[in-house]
Amino acid sequence: TASPASHSAGTGVFSRTRARITARTLRTDRWWLPPLFTAFGLGAFVVYATIRSFVRTAYWVPEFHYLTPFYSPCLSDSCVPGSAHFGTPFPELPMWIPLGFVVLPFLLGFRLTCYYYRKAYYRSVWFSPPACAVAEPHARYTGESRLPLIVQNAHRYFFYVALVVSLVNTYDAITAFHGSGGGFGFGLGNIVLGVNVILLWAYTLSCHSCRHIAGGRLKNFSAHPVRYWYWTQISKLNTRHMALAWTTLGTLVLTDFYVMLVASQTISDLRFVN
Ligand code: FES
Repeated sequence: TASPASHSAGTGVFSRTRARITARTLRTDRWWLPPLFTAFGLGAFVVYATIRSFVRTAYWVPEFHYLTPFYSPCLSDSCVPGSAHFGTPFPELPMWIPLGFVVLPFLLGFRLTCYYYRKAYYRSVWFSPPACAVAEPHARYTGESRLPLIVQNAHRYFFYVALVVSLVNTYDAITAFHGSGGGFGFGLGNIVLGVNVILLWAYTLSCHSCRHIAGGRLKNFSAHPVRYWYWTQISKLNTRHMALAWTTLGTLVLTDFYVMLVASQTISDLRFVN
């Protein structure tokens, strides 16, 4: 097995107190498979989301008021009529600015600084380290104590913005109960949008920062029964945070894809009411 690409004597796994093993790893199993799958999954989402965020087509179904989450909220004069639920405070935007530009950076920041995603891309993209008992190729390790990784500590602020975005997505899902002739309507698209929003809430509320905000820094739970109750419920959700992180990447893509198919009239929405 090859040695790590670079290793300053005395740092990381080559510290004086560590066993002197020059092999990069003694593991004989396929330890590289999970990081490979992770890199593939994250990469596929990034490619899809980037393309869809820029194309500006098939993101709104005027008949049923379905709006893809990638364009929500749509806040500029470039948004097709009806898709701007909160007005258009911004003028026409050049093509290189995605119509969801107001919240996309925050959502990206929320996911990038998420405790689970950090584990995922530290392992699969930065190899720091790629797996348990596999030495990383980097010579120095400064953790999250200085730029750029100190920004990870801003996660709780991204969480606050994500709460607002979840409210916006909920509003979008409710206004989508719209029939083709006006008034109430209900179709498969409502189920798609609704499931997506419920899972987005579950992902957002299962956040480690949310758990800490609910019950952190308390000396005595019995004196804070309400916060203790919230903390207990969020703790249960929190155990599924990784699963929710992946599920919501999937439902975001599926929701957008479904809206795209209906908006481009590739398929027609399955209608139950009107
Ligand atoms: Fe994952 Fe906060 S820890 S969203």
